[in-house]
Amino acid sequence: MSKGHAAVHAEWQRDPERYWARAAGAIDWSSPPARIFDPDQGPYGRWFPDARLNLCHNALDRHVAAGRGDQVALYWDSPVSGQKARLTYAELLDRTARLAGALNARGVRKGDRVVIYMPMVPEALVAMLACARLGAVHSVVFGGFAAAELAARIADATPKAVIAASCGLEPGRVVPYKPLLDAALGLSPHQPDFCLILRREASPGALVDGRDEDLLEAIEAAAPHPCVDVAATDPLYILYTSGTTGKPKGILRDTGGYAVALAHSMPLLYGLAPGDTCWTASDVGWVVGHSYIVYAPLLAGCSSVVYEGKPVGTPDAGAFWRVCAEYGVKTLFTAPTALRAIKKEDPEGRLLAQHDLSKLQALFLAGERCDADTALWAERLLDGRPVIDHWWQTETGWCITGNFRGAGLFPMRPGSGGKPAPGYDVQALGDDGKPVAAGETGSLAIRLPLPPGCAPSLFRADDRFRQAYLEAFPGYYNTGDAGMIDAEGYVWVMSRTDDIINTAGHRLSTGALEEVLASHKDVAECAVIGIRDALKGQVPMGLVVLKSGSQPDPAQLEAELVALVRDRIGPVAAFKRASIVQRLPKTRSGKILRATLRKLADGESYTVPPTIDDPLILEEIGDVLAKA
Ligand code: COA
Ligand code: AMP
Repeated sequence: MSKGHAAVHAEWQRDPERYWARAAGAIDWSSPPARIFDPDQGPYGRWFPDARLNLCHNALDRHVAAGRGDQVALYWDSPVSGQKARLTYAELLDRTARLAGALNARGVRKGDRVVIYMPMVPEALVAMLACARLGAVHSVVFGGFAAAELAARIADATPKAVIAASCGLEPGRVVPYKPLLDAALGLSPHQPDFCLILRREASPGALVDGRDEDLLEAIEAAAPHPCVDVAATDPLYILYTSGTTGKPKGILRDTGGYAVALAHSMPLLYGLAPGDTCWTASDVGWVVGHSYIVYAPLLAGCSSVVYEGKPVGTPDAGAFWRVCAEYGVKTLFTAPTALRAIKKEDPEGRLLAQHDLSKLQALFLAGERCDADTALWAERLLDGRPVIDHWWQTETGWCITGNFRGAGLFPMRPGSGGKPAPGYDVQALGDDGKPVAAGETGSLAIRLPLPPGCAPSLFRADDRFRQAYLEAFPGYYNTGDAGMIDAEGYVWVMSRTDDIINTAGHRLSTGALEEVLASHKDVAECAVIGIRDALKGQVPMGLVVLKSGSQPDPAQLEAELVALVRDRIGPVAAFKRASIVQRLPKTRSGKILRATLRKLADGESYTVPPTIDDPLILEEIGDVLAKA
């Protein structure tokens, strides 16, 4: 009999340490936690400060030892390459242990960083797990980023090695990663000792003598390496995400807290048990991919689908349902933008009707708020199976709010992200740092400490962590999201309070885009704002003021700015529009009024701030946006 969300949440609130001590029982520790939480370490404390474990052992070895060796660990399905493969737990363990051996033989040790730049291929997961096996810290860089972004991450993480694929495959287009890696290493002040390259047929790339080696040959030739014991507080990975400045933030993930949170979430949130198949249609380059393509499914002894394709166009809008049917997927987890893409092409679900979805029990969504229309459409299409929007951040590593299959579901309210997961005391705060009344909008914040699984800090940047997340509201972690909590405790996440925009479930820093636009020879100043987009939620748009005397052709300038962003940030920025404006709205002291621009772009009502020097500017920009 399910306890219900309220009972589970209350159980956590009554005695958080007892709650997490019990959850820690799902993990095989080499030295179990005697102490659960130490409030004196790090910016807000550390979980399981005296415990030791190895995450790869928990994800692979222990399942093989328990007789799960022949169970499929990964189904790889790649419509873009026309390939499919499956790896059992025993096979995945063998490859992982060998790659760990290859890395170790080349000098990679516990604590060393390894940058991974790969698309959705099984070797990406093998690389991540091999690092975890050695206690090395991986940092996966999403394939849609350009050389300069990869270089910035290499410069910050200072890796001993880079593991990359020679290319990625986008529908109808090969993306050669190897030249991007070479260019990035040309830009980075830091050089790795060596690179291992997965040479794919579509574009195998050229190996640089003395630095690059063939990844598969290295795995084949290596002896398996055993798991290296690490402290629960040792880092497992760094994942860079957009901050409000151009410099990406290196979100740090610990090992023990993360393992406990993920293992706990599998039955509680997703209702998954060992032997079940789950599919997270995201990318290993994002946090959702780290947690629910790789670590959580394997920690739980599930089979995870790794999909290299799109929701539409590979070959059609039935692809998701085909994959669910083919592998007997029990829970599908994706971003609302993917559903909107399917809805646009197959609104009646004709393609879905061609597949046997009898095993599919629930659909989970995250990455951006799911609009009520899309949530209701999906529910209808899936014959009333639960469609669960849950609220996430790269920083938290697992959901902040959601709905809990293992506790008994409460009714969803389309447009809301559900109710807080155990471990999270979520409050909507006013500017004075005090909770606002139910139903009123405020800054969404989490009372400290954050639960296990959440970032304990930023990589080598405790002060930046404190300043970015802890200073705004003492005693709380500031999520950067605004929203409200209704009288029944449902959390509604409505918008960001900073200059981050969300494009197709990806987080983009408008500051980083502005830095790129400002480097164009004709641009005196600029602002980038997110404008509504029916498919991607928001897309960025640049407003640029020309240098005096510059008179470029507007269409030519736009094309140059679009190419510049693609070249410096990457195609994932989906930057396609830039318009010339005469002036940008500023305060008398010269600060660009971004909040007003945001409201203008969203078509929300705004009051002309008293500090603005000329209200007519807003009318001019309103006209430009209306045309966009
Ligand atoms: N490597 C290289 N390029 C990539 C890439 C990768 N791994 N991923 C995306 N790109 C490119 C795309 O080819 C596209 O290039 P284009 O401008 O030449 O068309 C650009 O980056 C934008 O990509 P994307 O946002 O994927 O848009 P799309 O138009 O190709 O597809 C959707 C639209 C909705 C189908 C797609 O955005 C989608 O599936 N989104 C799901 C998002 C998601 O999983 N988010 C994770 C959070 S849970
Ligand atoms: P990222 O760190 O890239 O996962 O982006 C995190 C941000 O995406 C959050 O701070 C929110 O702004 C947004 N987000 C993610 N999931 C949701 C959701 N379910 N509902 C509303 N916003 C979401």
